[in-house]
Amino acid sequence: MLVLGLETSCDETGVALYDSERGLLADALFSQIDLHRVYGGVVPELASRDHVKRMLPLIRQVLSEADCVATDIDAIAYTAGPGLVGALLVGASCAQALAFAWGIPALGVHHMEGHLLAPMLEEQPPAFPFVALLVSGGHTQLVRVDGIGQYQLLGESLDDAAGEAFDKTAKLMGLQYPGGPEIARLALSGTPGRFKFPRPMTDRPGLEFSFSGLKTFTLNTWQQCQAAGDNSEQTRCDIALAFQQAVVDTLTIKCKRALKQTGLNNLVIAGGVSANQALRQSLEKMLAELKGEVFYARPAFCTDNGAMIAYAGCQRLLAGQHEDLSIKVQARWPMEQLPAL
Ligand code: KG4
Ligand code: ZN
Repeated sequence: MLVLGLETSCDETGVALYDSERGLLADALFSQIDLHRVYGGVVPELASRDHVKRMLPLIRQVLSEADCVATDIDAIAYTAGPGLVGALLVGASCAQALAFAWGIPALGVHHMEGHLLAPMLEEQPPAFPFVALLVSGGHTQLVRVDGIGQYQLLGESLDDAAGEAFDKTAKLMGLQYPGGPEIARLALSGTPGRFKFPRPMTDRPGLEFSFSGLKTFTLNTWQQCQAAGDNSEQTRCDIALAFQQAVVDTLTIKCKRALKQTGLNNLVIAGGVSANQALRQSLEKMLAELKGEVFYARPAFCTDNGAMIAYAGCQRLLAGQHEDLSIKVQARWPMEQLPAL
C-alpha cells in the first residue's frame, strides 16, 4: 500500500510517500521557522497561509523523487490533530480533496502517535511493549505502549511542555526561535557546575512534570547576572547548560521511574526535544545500567515531518480503518482515545 502523508499541525509543511512493502520512498519538508522568527514564536494565521502555498509543490516534489505518479497512491494520511486548527485544516482539506478526486481513502492521524511511531522508520525499530517519552513543543508525556493504539498515559506535564520550556527560556535570554536547538548549541560551550538549577518534582513520587518554575529560575539567574554587570556570552552559555542539564536530569529520573513501575526495559523517545544530544546520552547511560535499550528517530524525524504521518496512517489503513469525506480536525485530542489495532 502506497500512502501519501501530509503534516501541517504547526509551522512545518511535511509531505512523504511511504510504501508498506518498500518503506519510505520520499520525504520533503518546508520549515516556516524563518517566517515566524521575527515574531519570536509561531503566528497561526501566517502558518496556515504558508501551508496553503507549500503543499502542492511539495506533493509534486515527493512524487517526482519517488518516481511515482498520482495514480500509484493508494491512500492519503494527514494530521487531524492536536495542533493549530487553521494549520490542520489546510492538510485535512487538501487530503480530502485529493482523495475525492483520486477516488482513494483519506485518514486523519494523531500527531503524537506519528511522533511515537517515527522510530519504527529506523533500521532497528523498537518492539512492543515499551515506555515512550513524548517530548515536543506542546506535549511532555510518559506513555506505556503495548501496540498501535494501546496507550496508557503514565504521567504528563502539569504546565509547560519540555520543548515549550526550552523555547520560552531561550526567548527570555534573547535567543532566537525555536529555543531548543539554540540552548543546545550554547550549552556545548557552557561551564559545568557554575550554576545549579532545580530538578522539579523529582523529590516526590509520581510521573508528573512541571517545567514552568525552571523558566522563572532561569530568568532570575539571568537578571541577577545582568544586575551584577555580567551579560557575557559565556554566562549565557553557562545558564543554557544548567537549564538543559536540569531538564535532561528531570526527564531521565522520571523515565527510570516509569520503567521500574511498568517492569519494562525498552524506552522510546520521540518529538522535537528527542533530537537533543544531551538527553539521548543521559537516557542511553541510564538504560545501559538497567540493561535495556533506548530508541529514537533520526534528528529530522524527531521534529515534525510527513514521514511519521504516512507511516502511522499506513498502519491504520492496512488494519482497515477508514473515514468519510468530512473535514474534521481537533486542536486537543487525548491519544488514549485512539482505537487499538
Ligand atoms: O515535535 P516538534 O517539532 O513540534 C511539536 O509537535 O511541538 O517539537 C518542537 C520542539 C520545539 O519546542 C523545539 O525547541 C524543540 O522541539 N527542539 C529541541 C531540539 N530540537 C527541537 N529541544 C531541545 N533540543 C533540541 N536539539
Ligand atoms: Zn510535533
